Amino acid sequence: MITIIGSGKVGGDAALFSALKRLDDEILLLDVVDGLPQGEAMDINHMLSEQGIDVDVKGSNNFADMEGSKIVVVVAGSGRKPGMTRMDLLKINAKVVKSVVENVKKYANDSMLVPVTNPLDPMAYVAYKVSGFERNRVFGMGGMLDLSRFRQFIHEATGHSRDSIRALVIGEHGENMVPLPRFSSVSGIPLTSFLSKEKQDELVQNTKQVAAKVIELKGATVHAPGNAISAILESIVRDRKQVIPVTTYLDGEYGHSDVSIGIPAVIGKQGIEKIIELDLNEEEKQSFDAGIKNVREAISQMEI
Ligand code: 2OP
Repeated sequence: MITIIGSGKVGGDAALFSALKRLDDEILLLDVVDGLPQGEAMDINHMLSEQGIDVDVKGSNNFADMEGSKIVVVVAGSGRKPGMTRMDLLKINAKVVKSVVENVKKYANDSMLVPVTNPLDPMAYVAYKVSGFERNRVFGMGGMLDLSRFRQFIHEATGHSRDSIRALVIGEHGENMVPLPRFSSVSGIPLTSFLSKEKQDELVQNTKQVAAKVIELKGATVHAPGNAISAILESIVRDRKQVIPVTTYLDGEYGHSDVSIGIPAVIGKQGIEKIIELDLNEEEKQSFDAGIKNVREAISQMEI
């Protein structure tokens, strides 16, 4: 069973994409709002029925129902409203994530924990600390979403098929995210070898700002995060060992400890199977370290 805690739009879409990919026979949507997860589950099951897909989506308000889950995704909390930064959500959501993770510990102590709630990096820290799980079992979804946006901008700028584009974004899932043109390519040809520095910088800026733009236009980001969650789950469930940027606790990697941030890792059935340390140049390192500073400051403001 895969459990998704938080049955708003992103949680619902994560369940939908996971069901379409048949990632498990059973997907549980949990939420404190009475009726919401039940209604969402019904709606998805009706769609799956037409598609002939035998994945059972259930909805519940009872945390005990997650017992036996292999993976628990935490999307619960307030979403980012127009004009808000991810950090504005810090204190409200720290409390929510803490109490949700206490329940995960109680009912699904052997599971893998995938925090998604914003501000993601401090919330991933809360999830790691409160769960007490080994670090390979706690990693947040942020970079996967950021790279899907970077990939789209590369597609728009070059006209090449999205399928041939590989992109990498690490660091804070926020103002200081680090899209990496040097580690992004079209069919293996690095962006840096055929786009001007000016153009690369433009794509980087666009990637950093586009979530705020979507929120301004439609009130929330939904499909891209829902899909990015299912992409991480797929790498775990099918043991694909994809290299995916995930937000996890650092223990000396990239020169930092006792902080959570996005770094590339090999994701398979053991969760994080390896952390990949890139040789960052000065400019990349500066942005990465600015993110670390921001996250540390956020962590210092929370009571865990
Ligand atoms: C996003 O990047 C709001 O963090 C969320 O879509």
